[in-house]
Amino acid sequence: MGRTVFTCSQCAHESPKWHGRCPGCGEWNALVEERAPERARSVGPRSTRTGSARALHPIRLSDVQAPALVRHSTGIAELDRVLGGGIVPGSLVLIGGSPGIGKSTITGGALGNLAAAGRSVLYVSGEESAAQVRLRAERLGARALSVPIVAETDLDTVIATLEAERPEVCVVDSVQALYAGSLSGAPGSVGQVREVAGRLMRVAKERAIAVLLVGHVTKEGALAGPRVLEHLVDCVLQFEGERERTYRTLRALKNRFGSTNEVGVFEMRDHGLVEVADASSRFVAEATRAPGSVVMCAMEGSRPLLVEVQALVAPSEIVPPRRVANGIDRNRLALVLAVLARHAGLALGGSDVFVSVTGGVRIDEPGADLAVALALASAARRVSLSSGGPSGRAPLAAFGEVGLTGELRHVAHPERRVAEAAKFGLDPVVSPGGEARTLRAALASALGSRTHAARAA
Ligand code: TYD
Ligand code: MG
Repeated sequence: MGRTVFTCSQCAHESPKWHGRCPGCGEWNALVEERAPERARSVGPRSTRTGSARALHPIRLSDVQAPALVRHSTGIAELDRVLGGGIVPGSLVLIGGSPGIGKSTITGGALGNLAAAGRSVLYVSGEESAAQVRLRAERLGARALSVPIVAETDLDTVIATLEAERPEVCVVDSVQALYAGSLSGAPGSVGQVREVAGRLMRVAKERAIAVLLVGHVTKEGALAGPRVLEHLVDCVLQFEGERERTYRTLRALKNRFGSTNEVGVFEMRDHGLVEVADASSRFVAEATRAPGSVVMCAMEGSRPLLVEVQALVAPSEIVPPRRVANGIDRNRLALVLAVLARHAGLALGGSDVFVSVTGGVRIDEPGADLAVALALASAARRVSLSSGGPSGRAPLAAFGEVGLTGELRHVAHPERRVAEAAKFGLDPVVSPGGEARTLRAALASALGSRTHAARAA
């Protein structure tokens, strides 16, 4: 048995002996024993010995030959967009998400479309048997059924299969399920995952095989264990949403071949994931127009998205009262509540507060503040808000950041947000560009008589 090291399963810090608490990140009980990788003997940091190595001639970047990127379209427009226009040959893409979110469904569907377009593909299933994958493919249709599959967890066998088959695009489901026999750690441990991804990357680059690696997400929402994977791969896509809800979003956290601003919206149906190209119209049509409901003009990447924010304010029985946030950041909710209390005369300290973005969508931008504040005020005062509009029944739309001194702050792309709202008859939009300069003024105008506020029964 060779030398062993203790590697942190959170941050991959290596230590020659075991610690209860990782010296790298401070996480408790995270060190696991692994076989130390073989290292070339170090020559010491100050050594200038170059041995037999020859110096290279640097070349100007403009003289470097770069073949034009020809991407493979997955046939799923929302996925292509998030990838930056399709899959780049030889690239390594990590798709993360919690169990049951639809990772196997989307990758299976993409392979089916690629196969139908004449690409050679391969699905490597480490988690499910071929029969289980077939059952899923039956729901997805004939294209998904045409995908060749191997159900295997041994990394060497998978690599040998890839070398023999040389598919253009391959899915490995999942990176945590594969196992390198040369290492002692359990499948899914940092060492194993790093080894699996590293060796797959080598084959991917050498043979120009695009590999979609499926990865699980931990309870905390990080891509499981290995942050190490994130800098190894070319793209990291994160699948989000709640399993019980139908809407899912796919966003790029890292993309060497495209923007990380793009977001795809999907809906889980009986026959697989369906793209929601016009998500705004759905969310606006579903908006309840009841007290506590406001439409938020959010930006998802370069695309405006209208979503409904709902708030419920109820007398609390407990101290401290409940603060529940779904789809927005808890800390931003705390900030909005504090500003409402301090600068807008709406103290909710004795009430339970629930805020949720409907459809299971997650909005991670400060532009959500104003809509959250208006929804809270509308819920607390039990007044339903509407923007008037031609029929007088359109829900109220808003966006803007709320500052700590109660002022409304500008956010990116105001014109696009307003234009999207106008498309659905939501006009005017309460925003930092309007007459209201402070949250207090925005509340007064939205809840006051100038808008069509109706006292709820
Ligand atoms: P799956 O892709 O297996 O999730 P993951 O690989 O991320 O763990 O599928 C997730 C869920 O979606 C599963 O509970 C069943 C459901 N589902 C549908 O509702 N419709 C479908 O057509 C398919 C294939 C799955
Ligand atoms: Mg799966």
